[in-house]
Amino acid sequence: MSVTIVYGSDGGATRAVAARIAKKMNGKAVDIKVATSSDFEDCKLLILGVPTYGEGELQSDWDENFNKLESANLGKKKVALFGLGDQENYPESFLDAMGVLYDQVVEQGAEVIGFTEPGEFTYTNSLAERDGKFVGLALDEDTQPGKTGKRITSWISQLA
Ligand SMILES: Cc1cc2nc3c(=O)[nH]c(=O)nc-3n(C[C@H](O)[C@H](O)[C@H](O)COP(=O)(O)O)c2cc1C
Repeated sequence: MSVTIVYGSDGGATRAVAARIAKKMNGKAVDIKVATSSDFEDCKLLILGVPTYGEGELQSDWDENFNKLESANLGKKKVALFGLGDQENYPESFLDAMGVLYDQVVEQGAEVIGFTEPGEFTYTNSLAERDGKFVGLALDEDTQPGKTGKRITSWISQLA
């Protein structure tokens, strides 16, 4: 299965996770700043990675390049999402940006796979939670870095 991971990252944490996922899935990781329509379209599985900034906003490169996502042909495409956030400092907007990307790809006709259980996290509000599940892989490298490896591994086996 050909896998492309498109990510945005200010501090490097999301970039590092994208690289880990790419390595495990034999895929390629592409920064949204340089991504082309072919990166979105010419793969069997498209994975999008985003950290949340501000109070529940998209990371700046995702925000500035949002038109690249909007103009991609994602009809019936399998898409999976991962988000990074900080549940202790931002419990009111935990992982919101992943929810923003979810709404967008669903609107474009994508089939989103890879929902996860929010059980291990403590937060009050998240746009990334729908019907009691996160719409993708939820990661908190600020307060639970030790759990990231296991979470990635089990998510990848879920996607397979
Ligand atoms: C100014 C600022 C605002 C943030 N806002 C949120 C937020 O609203 N929700 C959240 O879950 N995380 C928030 N975070 C946490 C980041 O998403 C988290 O640190 C993430 O790992 C950063 O990823 P990056 O290193 O790839 O940029 C914020 C971090 C900073 C520095």
